[in-house]
Formats: sequence, C-alpha cells, structure tokens
Amino acid sequence: MKLTRIFAVAIATLGLAGFSGVASADAAAGKAKFEAACAECHEVADFEGTSAADITATLKKIVAGQQKHKTALKLTDAEIADLAACLSAGK
Ligand code: HEC
Repeated sequence: MKLTRIFAVAIATLGLAGFSGVASADAAAGKAKFEAACAECHEVADFEGTSAADITATLKKIVAGQQKHKTALKLTDAEIADLAACLSAGK
C-alpha cells in the first residue's frame, strides 16, 4: 500500500519533470526554422546525440556573439528552444 503510493508519486514527478523540460519547445517549428535558416550549411542529423541543453547553450553563445560561427545568428529564445528540440532528436 505504502510502496504503491511512493511509486505513484515518483512516476508523477518524473512525468512532470520530463514534460516541463520541453513544454515550450516545438520540434516541428524548429525543423521549419532549420530548413529556412540552417539547412544551407547543416543537416539535422549532424546534431543527433547532442542534448537539447547543450544545443541551447551553444546557440545562445552564438547568438550573443560569444562563440565563433560562420554567420551571425539571430534567434529568439523560443526559436532556440524549438531548434534544440528538433536537433537533439536528430530529425
Ligand atoms: C553559412 C553556413 C552556415 C549557416 C547558414 C549556419 N551554420 Fe551553423 N555552423 C557553420 C559552420 C561552418 C560551423 C562550424 C564552426 C565554425 O563556424 O567554424 C557551424 C557550427 C554550428 C554549431 C556548433 C557545432 C558544435 O559542435 O559546436 C551549431 C550549434 C550551429 N552551427 C547551429 C546552426 C543553426 C541552428 C543554424 C541556423 C539557425 C546555423 N548553424 C546556420 C555554418 C553555418
């Protein structure tokens, strides 16, 4: 009885944590943005295996001009989140 309850709470917590991490990201929008702004030089598959958090951090640095990139990138935080969702999934 008690164990079942702990299990249920753990599942609910995990579910919430997993969901909140991507709540505002839209991988489909990220893909559209990628096709429009990045596909000239990159392929989505190039980023497969990189975590969304790493891609987000890198893109923020590039946008802020703190990381060297072929071209200056202008992306909103929402676009960065969408791109990270799309790219980390490799599709
Ligand atoms: C004109 C070509 C070009 C375009 C357009 C372009 N990139 Fe890049 N990108 C590069 C090159 C070349 C590199 C390798 C690093 C460098 O600039 O020397 C790179 C590096 C990166 C990296 C870092 C990879 C790493 O392993 O650190 C990320 C992330 C990235 N690009 C994302 C994007 C995104 C997202 C877009 C679209 C919004 C984009 N790039 C558009 C050419 C481009």
